[in-house]
Amino acid sequence: AAAMAAERALTMATCTAPVNIAVIKYWGKRDTDLILPINSSLSVTLHQDQLKTTTTAAASRDFTEDRLWLNGKEADVGHPRVQACLREVRRLARKRRGGGEDTAALSLSYKIHIASENNFPTAAGLASSAAGYACLVSALARLYGVEEELSEVARRGSGSACRSMFGGFVQWQRGERPDGTDSLALQVAPETHWPELHVLVLVVSGEKKPVGSTAGMQTSVETSPLLKHRAEVVVPERLAQMMRHIRERDFEGFGQLAMRDSNQFHATCLDTFPPIFYLTDLSRHIIALAHRYNAHHGHTKVAYTFDAGPNAVIFALADTVAEFVEVVRRSFPPATNGDQFVRGLPVGSATLSQALVAAVVTEPVPGAVQYILHTKPGPGPQLVDDPSQHLLGADGLPRSRA
Ligand code: DP6
Repeated sequence: AAAMAAERALTMATCTAPVNIAVIKYWGKRDTDLILPINSSLSVTLHQDQLKTTTTAAASRDFTEDRLWLNGKEADVGHPRVQACLREVRRLARKRRGGGEDTAALSLSYKIHIASENNFPTAAGLASSAAGYACLVSALARLYGVEEELSEVARRGSGSACRSMFGGFVQWQRGERPDGTDSLALQVAPETHWPELHVLVLVVSGEKKPVGSTAGMQTSVETSPLLKHRAEVVVPERLAQMMRHIRERDFEGFGQLAMRDSNQFHATCLDTFPPIFYLTDLSRHIIALAHRYNAHHGHTKVAYTFDAGPNAVIFALADTVAEFVEVVRRSFPPATNGDQFVRGLPVGSATLSQALVAAVVTEPVPGAVQYILHTKPGPGPQLVDDPSQHLLGADGLPRSRA
């Protein structure tokens, strides 16, 4: 079968990959070329039923140049990070073949076509680069028959992408070696470990972030003494604590630490010079809301975390989701199409007590939250077996999208 594949004019592989949200944040590189971080980080992989990237990679002796399409539009295949991933997967493929003439294997010199799509609006600022590079590397690996651990390659696309190579709860260990061979992702626990843990993404803006993560974290490394202290002292302690909270399914500990770490990341942004602001008035509104809600209940029922953009990600246990969604609906009354306000996994209805409304829902801001996406932890990259799902047609060009 493998020999036949090599004789076919076109060979193709399609994979999907997830988004992840860090609860111990990565911010700062010690090597900008290899993408080696100044501290380890830890994330939760989100379910691909709600958020995923799909990528098809194809190779053919008939292709005259490498080409790339993102969400149906042709993009720059020469991007250094795309090239780094391509080079590394091919290197592993060559190593695997032991340099010998393996006629059954797909030729590494064929040009390739890559098409990638998200099942969510890219403009919503939902960490698409992590899923994108994890998916690119997964599809290329499949195309070339590479089965090695690939988080080290995905890391070359985007640091946070290495964590999207696994499902559930994932650590990116910073590593010590200058060549980066020990800077990789490890699964801490699978997605089945904590079934009660749910995730609400509060999509608040379609705007592009003011300063990209790559540039922002570099300025932070160069100017923030708080970031240095965070990487050297705070994160090592927090990482160990967070692993314990996850192992014990301790929401109180998990939630508290996730909020503190998000806040410290944004504090390092303020400590950067000139300062960087990712949190907005609305983010602060959501933060205050979560704290009022927890205070009303007398313990941590919801935990927020924010990356380099204005969307809020909320962790809550299953029994809290319906009530908190209602609190968000009352606090940010949907402007239009209220029926689409809650998306993703179904959310039950909840009636709020007078006391809860009085204590928590202060000064509603109509229309500020576009919609809520209800999801949960999910698995790592998947192979798509069904050939009808390929994003490229038999001619090697993007299929027209229905
Ligand atoms: C705030 O992985 O996007 O989301 O490595 O330069 O591509 P590059 O940066 P990126 O940074 C993510 C930063 C963060 C925190 C996190 O995901 O850990």
